[in-house]
Amino acid sequence: MQIIAFNGSPRKNGNTSTLIKAVLEGAASAGATTTEVNLHHINMKGCMACYSCNEIKFGVCAQKDDLSPFLESIKTCDGVIFGCPIYMYRVSGQMKLLVDRMYSLYSPKTEGGGYNSEVPPGKKFAMIISQGAPDAEQYIRSARWLAGMAGTGLGMEEAGRIIHTAGAMGQVAENQDLLQQAKDLGRKMAGK
Ligand SMILES: Cc1cc2nc3c(=O)[nH]c(=O)nc-3n(C[C@H](O)[C@H](O)[C@H](O)COP(=O)(O)O)c2cc1C
Repeated sequence: MQIIAFNGSPRKNGNTSTLIKAVLEGAASAGATTTEVNLHHINMKGCMACYSCNEIKFGVCAQKDDLSPFLESIKTCDGVIFGCPIYMYRVSGQMKLLVDRMYSLYSPKTEGGGYNSEVPPGKKFAMIISQGAPDAEQYIRSARWLAGMAGTGLGMEEAGRIIHTAGAMGQVAENQDLLQQAKDLGRKMAGK
């Protein structure tokens, strides 16, 4: 059981990172092998719009950089976690770069338009979103977009999501309930 987490926050000890660590701790306690990818801290470029993934080699992103092996891991792992803060009402830029690169995991259908998923079936995904605003529903459209593009659109089943509302000063490290929810989500991702 392999779980990979993509962290779209630049803050290594911030709210997103703390929650991702808790999810991975839960997953590991249930027997999973875990990997965290800090998108801000790897050498990663955006999509270069070459359409190689759509026209030449389905399922493979022609942009070669530090993200390349982790894009491949999405096809081979059992579960994927997407974690990021809300920046300017949307997912962080680091997360948007990842999702753009995940276009390579969609391949065009031969007839009738639309896309097939190049991700084998049977995988789960979960989301961690941290925001300053107190209303957890405020950026629901951004959460739905992330779930659709990076998860369900590729045939993955959502295991759950955590929306952390930081408020003016809030640090998730003080929120034991939410940390426990994150650990439970990790265990669920690992099938426990
Ligand atoms: C550039 C920037 C833009 C932000 N925009 C928003 C926003 O539109 N709405 C919001 O609720 N919080 C916003 N925030 C606050 C962060 O989402 C919040 O502090 C979050 O907990 C940070 O997560 P982290 O600790 O994982 O980095 C913004 C923060 C930054 C740095």
